[in-house]
Amino acid sequence: MARCIRGLEPIAATEILRAELGTVTGLGHREVRFQAAPPARWIEPRTADDVFLLAGRIPDIGRVRAGLGGLAELTAALDLDSLLARRRAYGGRGRLTGVEVSASFLGRRNFNRYDAEDVIGSALARRLGVPYRSRRDGTPPPDLDGGWRLTLDGEHATLMLRIGLRPAHRRDYKRATIPGTLHPPVAAAMAILADVLPGQRVLDPCCGAGTLLIEAERAQPLGRFQGYDLDPAALRAARVNAAGSTAVRVGAADAGDLPLADGSVDRVVANPPWGAQVRAGGRLAGAPERWWAEIRRVLTPTGSAVVLIPDTGDLAAAIRYGLVPTYVQQVSLFGSRPSVVRLVPREPSGGSDDRIRRDH
Ligand SMILES: C[S@@+](CC[C@H](N)C(=O)[O-])C[C@H]1O[C@@H](n2cnc3c(N)ncnc32)[C@H](O)[C@@H]1O
Repeated sequence: MARCIRGLEPIAATEILRAELGTVTGLGHREVRFQAAPPARWIEPRTADDVFLLAGRIPDIGRVRAGLGGLAELTAALDLDSLLARRRAYGGRGRLTGVEVSASFLGRRNFNRYDAEDVIGSALARRLGVPYRSRRDGTPPPDLDGGWRLTLDGEHATLMLRIGLRPAHRRDYKRATIPGTLHPPVAAAMAILADVLPGQRVLDPCCGAGTLLIEAERAQPLGRFQGYDLDPAALRAARVNAAGSTAVRVGAADAGDLPLADGSVDRVVANPPWGAQVRAGGRLAGAPERWWAEIRRVLTPTGSAVVLIPDTGDLAAAIRYGLVPTYVQQVSLFGSRPSVVRLVPREPSGGSDDRIRRDH
């Protein structure tokens, strides 16, 4: 089960199928269910926040507290030996050092998430002979190897075991961060949409800590990746994070006046500095349309841009500057609802319709 942020489910399914990680068996709210490919081919999907093995599933336990007994039965019936052997086969460890459980449910219940977590967690800890760290007192559990997830969706109670030590959204490369830095699975999804081909030149004109370029390089190691930012702290963070990426370069420049020739960039990936956390500076301050004008200027006629913007109303400016949206998907991101948008340059003399049809 790949868990992802809301809105990324179709892209996560696309990644799983395209990278031959498995056969997709269903898409749900924030999840993609799939039959994983043989362990030898296994890598974690980058668009996922977390990847779990399905441990057990029973009909939803209902609203009342008495239903919690069903969760104890679910836990007692698990074949833990074969579950842990499967976990080991997919790169996790075969022994757990503890138990932590995160539960969520749809609909009103006469119990809370901690009640459900504690029933499962204490039963699992007893069976495995390891400690259980409850989340009830509000302190997040320490990093221990043994993360379980329970969902109650009205139809099923589903119990899952994380394959890795840590959630998949945490990236080893991300050692430095800045305010407004992008959640890596969203950057990975944008990189998939950008569909970079070998040798292509990819630009992030306000690269911050470099997340988009690094994820794009992971998706297409044979591309060339250039990032710019005005903030020295952002550039320092990007250099730290991109230390292991040979094809990623960053430098100081203003996204409203890029040091690039017209028509020299194949792909743009960016989340521009509009929004609560980061302000547009330099030549973009008070003039966001400059951003679109520069993107349009530097893109090749067959290029495209994939951007994350807080408000699709901003697309009016993009369209005015000759960029045509070919894909819009709203996502849920820590309480905000930005949209991932792909745009292509409008062809000069009315030929754009073909391009748009092809992109769909
Ligand atoms: C939302 S953040 C980008 C986050 C980045 N994608 C990441 O994952 O870390 C926007 C960035 O735009 C930069 N910025 C603001 N005005 C700029 C300008 N005129 N030219 C270039 N970068 C600018 C900010 O310094 C900030 O790093």
